[in-house]
Amino acid sequence: MHKLLVEGGRPLRGQVRVSGAKNSAVALLPAAILAETPVTIEGLPNISDVGILSDLLEEIGGTVRKDGRTVHIDPSEMVDMPLPNGKVKKLRASYYFMGAMLGRFNKAVIGLPGGCHLGPRPIDQHIKGFEALGAKVTNEQGAIYLRARELRGARIYLDVVSVGATINIMLAAVRAKGKTVIENAAKEPEIIDVATLLTSMGAKIKGAGTDVIRIEGVETLKGCLHTIIPDRIEAGTYTIMAAAQGEEMIIDNVIPQHLESLLAKLREMGVTIEENDEQLYIKPGKELHSVDIKTLVYPGFPTDLQQPFTSLLTQTQGTGVVTDTIYQARFKHVDELRRMNASIKVEGGSAIVTGPTKLQGAKVKATDLRAGAALVIAGLMAEGITEITGVDHIERGYENITNKLIELGAKVWYEEMSDEEIEQFQNS
Ligand code: EPU
Repeated sequence: MHKLLVEGGRPLRGQVRVSGAKNSAVALLPAAILAETPVTIEGLPNISDVGILSDLLEEIGGTVRKDGRTVHIDPSEMVDMPLPNGKVKKLRASYYFMGAMLGRFNKAVIGLPGGCHLGPRPIDQHIKGFEALGAKVTNEQGAIYLRARELRGARIYLDVVSVGATINIMLAAVRAKGKTVIENAAKEPEIIDVATLLTSMGAKIKGAGTDVIRIEGVETLKGCLHTIIPDRIEAGTYTIMAAAQGEEMIIDNVIPQHLESLLAKLREMGVTIEENDEQLYIKPGKELHSVDIKTLVYPGFPTDLQQPFTSLLTQTQGTGVVTDTIYQARFKHVDELRRMNASIKVEGGSAIVTGPTKLQGAKVKATDLRAGAALVIAGLMAEGITEITGVDHIERGYENITNKLIELGAKVWYEEMSDEEIEQFQNS
């Protein structure tokens, strides 16, 4: 087990290239199950979640060949094998095997998903959708059993706007008989990306990216070539880093429109941002002032950038209130930031951050993926060395983060943890 060390105080400059979107990748891979012939996906990020999902595709009989960032999946020999345990429990996105296997085989057995602990993360809306399409869904000893004689299109209103439920229902509905309408659908760019792949496979989908998605079921889907969108959350994380510790930075391979809410807030704080076709140029002002943020579904401020943004607020003038309306308990990073001398208190669903306070390097723990990113940003700004444990969370979502940071001028490195440190980590 290793830890990540960050020596703070060095300015970041230069260019960083954003990888393919994690939250698209984790849906695009299972979507390949629905095709009868090989699917090629280009630009996948080299992160552990992609590795685990590729293994799961092989477990059900698929052939997965990796060629750098391109993955070729041959789904022709896949079978409806139950996946109640093992790797499915390692990540949240394994729930996309439910929709994809139900769509292809009318049947799936999938263990309840794992993933970051951000408070309660129910999947009732996924199940509501599958049932509306004609599946019988039961929860037996920690696994979800889905069976349908046949799937039939339906009108499904989501009571909660959910990225996962929208994608999962699309996956099941593309091969259902007749027309499905998903109302109050999520509008995230990752949903459009999955719909683009499915459309290239021969699916008939209208309205992805709006809150009403219409799907006309087809009998078969074929293989295709798809290029993934850039990761807006990784791009946003580096953009926040640039505002926090950058002199001048260019973020390359970005779709700036995907980040409008973040860019608006950074401009409000005093950061200079220029947008080009696929790049952002960031130059922080001399003194940044605090702003309030409230996370909302897309195109609102993304919950996945709330934690990294909180680290930036520790260095801005005044008080900023961070409210997370998506995951009210997504504040585990706050205790860790406090260890580094940040002045933050959590009241209800908000963190109140008063700045600036000089951060001090400390021993901290990444409790989840974006909390990890928040600690890396804090470490870059802090005096002295910050030691971050729980690094595997960070590696789930950020490709090659240390090399990217080193290229920008940061001093970061890995060290093996001692037995005593591992024990302390496991007990904390
Ligand atoms: N919700 C329900 N019932 C459901 C589904 C969701 O009540 O059936 C609630 C959730 O508890 C949450 C809200 O609806 O309060 C939104 O959840 P959503 O379903 O949209 O989240 P998700 O699909 O499970 C994805 C990303 C998350 C990201 C959220 C919100 C993936 C694999 N994960 O999760 O990403 O925070 O959307 O944008 O796509 C991350 O990348 O760090 C991460 C956690």
